[in-house]
Amino acid sequence: MSVSERGFRQQVERRPVTRRNFIVWYLGGLLTALVAAVIAPILVYIWPPAGQTKQQVINLTLSTALDEIKEGTAVLFQAPSATGFVMTDGGGDNYPGKIGFKGFLVNYQGTLIMLSATCSHLGCQVNQPSGTPPIFQCPCHGSQFNLNGTVHHGPAVAPLSHYAWKATGPNKIAVIGVSLPGVG
Ligand code: FES
Repeated sequence: MSVSERGFRQQVERRPVTRRNFIVWYLGGLLTALVAAVIAPILVYIWPPAGQTKQQVINLTLSTALDEIKEGTAVLFQAPSATGFVMTDGGGDNYPGKIGFKGFLVNYQGTLIMLSATCSHLGCQVNQPSGTPPIFQCPCHGSQFNLNGTVHHGPAVAPLSHYAWKATGPNKIAVIGVSLPGVG
């Protein structure tokens, strides 16, 4: 037997696998698996694998025909399960490319505009506009937005974001969004 083989055998003989070692290794493995199971879905949600963030057209049917949305009013819509809408601009907590899940089609001074319902302060959903003039109110910290999305009252400092869209029928629209498997 060579000197190195003898040394190895001595090491193994000196460090037998005790029940205590086995339990420590077993619990270590269990803990690692648990951490991976919790963290992996979060990482996939934050950084979806390439291909899952590919933009797609999301077709929606609104509760109101486009030409029946009265001036000064807004129609709420939301993304179907496992999809989201892509913001084209934004400030504060919003930014171009951020995903939103609700929006408003607004008749602002006779023109239809589309706004994200995601508050630019910290991301809550603003309520349907109300009052005179109509104002979007955020239930979380009291921010208010004018009907065209500009800030009426803080703490938000940036306007509501927009989505890219087009009309596809009397009460149908197509909005640029993404597929989000496992969300919603
Ligand atoms: S999240 Fe809307 S005011 Fe804070």
